[in-house]
Amino acid sequence: MAPAVTESVIINEVGPRDGLQSQGRTLSPDQRLDLIEHLVGVGLRHIEAGSFVSPKAVPQMAGTDEVFRGLPAMDRVRYAALVPNMKGYELAVAAGARVVNVVLSVTETMNYENIRRTVDESAADFEQILQRAGVEGVAAQAYLAVAFECPFEGPVSPGVVRHYAERMVAAGAEKIILADTIGAANPAGVQAVLEAVGGVVPLSRVACHFHDTRGMALANVLASLNAGVREFDASIGGLGGCPFSPGATGNVATEDVALLLDAMGYDTGIDPLALVPVVRTAQAMTGTELGGKSFRWLSQQYDKQQGGAAHGR
Ligand code: COA
Ligand code: ZN
Repeated sequence: MAPAVTESVIINEVGPRDGLQSQGRTLSPDQRLDLIEHLVGVGLRHIEAGSFVSPKAVPQMAGTDEVFRGLPAMDRVRYAALVPNMKGYELAVAAGARVVNVVLSVTETMNYENIRRTVDESAADFEQILQRAGVEGVAAQAYLAVAFECPFEGPVSPGVVRHYAERMVAAGAEKIILADTIGAANPAGVQAVLEAVGGVVPLSRVACHFHDTRGMALANVLASLNAGVREFDASIGGLGGCPFSPGATGNVATEDVALLLDAMGYDTGIDPLALVPVVRTAQAMTGTELGGKSFRWLSQQYDKQQGGAAHGR
């Protein structure tokens, strides 16, 4: 049912980080900035612009400091940087980042595969980062990765997710982002995790991050929307994956989330049709076939509109 008053929902574009980190083709900082300019140009105001991680671990994110130094429209866009440790935090802040994201995988194997630490070692590191960010006036948010299912350890108990959500918020995380890193969640599981986490963090401070591996990402967006979540990560054209998480494919596509929300009467500040040329740009840059479930239809509408405009109709 359409909301009585127009409610806003935030789409947080993660293509420049989650999207590009697993691409075979590594884009230069200038190309990454070009993609970001296109995203800003069509109204995206929340963008994860890159990560400050070891370039040995993720060569695609080398030069994120250059990306941060060149970001457009800093006054209008909330750009976030992913940081895996204190070194990453310091590099991010030195490059001008004002929002940092820590990522805690809530299972031992996944956290070790990703950042070579036990869950509790990382949780303790992140508490320090969150506290320091608070003192230094840097906004900090905490991702809980594999919050629904782990590629190594299977289903994750909602109680475990709640425990780490509570710890990260107590240390100063402004927001908790529940990440279905491998795209294994389903709407019932999403509801269960949101119920558990909602008991310790208001859902106005919770965002969701879904991958579309099993085609259920949009259904999971809807389940979280119905539960009260008003912020979603998405990546342009469904670009993405996690290099440390076997079987993970792209994020839910920005154009699909924008279209779903627009059709339901929510305000995202983004015209779904305007995303079509950005998907095409991302496709050309990465050399990867992109496009969410709605992309074929959106493309047809967009081309019709452009043809009409060209003929002065
Ligand atoms: N940014 C850049 N370099 C970093 C770094 C950071 N945040 N943290 C550590 N390093 C460097 C160290 O300086 C050291 O460099 P050297 O070999 O030239 O001396 C090297 O990385 C190893 O440092 P160490 O602390 O021993 O790290 P590690 O080998 O245990 O790896 C991480 C840990 C976190 C640095 C690494 O696993 C990583 O970057 N993972 C990111 C994974 C990721 O981005 N996943 C997807 C997003 S969730
Ligand atoms: Zn992801």
